[in-house]
Amino acid sequence: MIFGATGDLANRKLYPSLYKLFEKGKLSDKFAVIGVARRPLTNEEFQENIKKSVKSSIQKENRIDEFASHFYYHSHDVTDSNSYAVLNNLANQLDSNYELQGNRIFYLAMAPEFFGTIALHLKEDGLTNVSGFKRLVIEKPFGHDLPSAQELNDQIRTAFSEDEVYRIDHYLGKEMVQNIEVIRFANAIFEPLWNNRYISNIQVTSSEVLGVEERGRYYEKSGALRDMVQNHMLQMVALLAMEPPIKLTTEEIRSEKVRVLRALRPIEGEEVKEYFVRGQYDKGTVEGTEVLGYREEQMVNPESNTETYVAGKLMIDNFRWAGVPIYIRTGKRMDSKSTKIVIQFKDIPMNLYYSPEETLNPNLLVIHIQPEEGITLHLNAKKAGQNIAATPVKLNYANRGIDGLNTPEAYEKLLFDCMRGDATNFTHWDEVALSWSFVDKISDVWENQKAENYPNYNAGTVGPREADELLEKDGFHWWPISNFDVDKC
Ligand code: BG6
Repeated sequence: MIFGATGDLANRKLYPSLYKLFEKGKLSDKFAVIGVARRPLTNEEFQENIKKSVKSSIQKENRIDEFASHFYYHSHDVTDSNSYAVLNNLANQLDSNYELQGNRIFYLAMAPEFFGTIALHLKEDGLTNVSGFKRLVIEKPFGHDLPSAQELNDQIRTAFSEDEVYRIDHYLGKEMVQNIEVIRFANAIFEPLWNNRYISNIQVTSSEVLGVEERGRYYEKSGALRDMVQNHMLQMVALLAMEPPIKLTTEEIRSEKVRVLRALRPIEGEEVKEYFVRGQYDKGTVEGTEVLGYREEQMVNPESNTETYVAGKLMIDNFRWAGVPIYIRTGKRMDSKSTKIVIQFKDIPMNLYYSPEETLNPNLLVIHIQPEEGITLHLNAKKAGQNIAATPVKLNYANRGIDGLNTPEAYEKLLFDCMRGDATNFTHWDEVALSWSFVDKISDVWENQKAENYPNYNAGTVGPREADELLEKDGFHWWPISNFDVDKC
C-alpha cells in the first residue's frame, strides 16, 4: 500500500522503480499495489497515471499494461476508521486473488504530520493483523528534532517492531555510498591507512544547483542542517568512520555506525561558531539564468533566518580518529550538482622531489558519489624526461564508464531490499536519535541568534567565504567541487 499515491515521490520515483523491478523479474506476478490518497480516482484512472509516470522516466516499457493491471486505488481519509476498514477489505481480497500469503508493506510517501496517525490506525483497524510479514516504509523527515522524532517513533512502535520499520535515507541506496564499505573492507591497501596516523582530513561535499523550488513551506522549518546534515551527511560520515563489522549482517553494520555517532563530539553553545558555518543564497546566475535569492522564493519569509548552506567540522573522539577533522558541506544553489568524498592523506615525512619552495601534492582518495560514480586515487609519479621530478597522476575507476550501464536508482534498490526483508540500508532508530541530538544543539544556537550576514553567498557559487576560513584555521583548504570529476581526471 502506498500512502501518498498521487504525490510527487510516488510518481517520480516509486512507480518507475517498481516497474524496473518487475521488468527485471525481481517482482513476481504475485503482487498487488493499492494506491492510497485523498482524491477520488477509479482504478482505471489510477492505472493510467501509473503508465504515464513510468513512461516519463523509462524509454522501453514493453510490459507496462501487464504491470499497471496490478494497481488498485483507494480514496482515503487518514483519520477515519471506516476508510481503513474499506481499505482492509480490498487488501484481503487482493491477498487471496494474488496469493500474497498475508505479506504487506505499507509505504508512507506523504506529509510527515500523518505518519503517526496512520501507523496507529493501521494497528487499531486491523490492517497489521496479517498472517505473513508486515513492514512499514517511512520517508523523511523523521521528526523535526529529537523530542518530535521520539514521539513519532513511539507511535509507530505501538504498531510495528523496530525490525519491521524501514526508515528511508535515499543516500543509502546510492551505488557509491554502498561502495564505501566495499572499498574500505575489501582492499588490503586502504584499511591499514584508514586512521589518524595516515589521514590528515576528510571532506564530504554534497552541493546542489537547485534552489528550494516549491518546497518553501517545508524548508523554512527545516533548513539545510535538518534537511541534509541530520540524515544524508551523517550517514556518509558513519560509513566512512565505522570500524569493520564482524559480519556483514544488518545488526553488526548498524551497531558499528551507531558507535561512530556516539563518538561524534557534541558541538554546543559558543563552540558552534567555531565548528559550523551557515549560509543563505542571494540571487545570482545559475547555468546562464538569473535566479531569485532564497528570501524571494515562494512561501519564504523575506527576512528568513533559515540556512540553505552548512559547512561544519566534525570530530570523532575515538582511538582511530582522534585529531582528524571531518569537514562536511552542503548547500542549495551552488555552482554544480555533486556529491564527493575526499580523503586526504598526510604529507610524506620529507620531500625529495620538488624544490623547497614547491609542495608535493598530498595523496587523495576521491569517492565520486554523483552525478558521476567512481574512485580516483591521486598519486605522484616521475615526470617523463631527464630530471628526477615528480608530477601528479590519477588512477581512475569510473563505474558507469566501465559497466556501460546505468546503475539502478536508489529507490529501486531500497524497494527491493525492503521486499526481501533486508534493512541494512535503512536507518535504525538509534542512528536517528543520535543524529538528532547532535544536530539539535546546533539548531538551538542558530534559531536563537539571527544570522546578521544573510544572504551571504550568491546563487551559482561555491558558498560563503566563511566556509573557506573554517579549513584555513586548520591549515587546510577545500578540494574543488567542480573540475574534479572522474571523467576529467
Ligand atoms: C532530500 C532533500 O533528502 O535530498 C532535498 O530533502 C535534496 O532538499 C535531496 O534536494 C538531494 O538528494 P540527491 O539525491 O539529489 O542528492
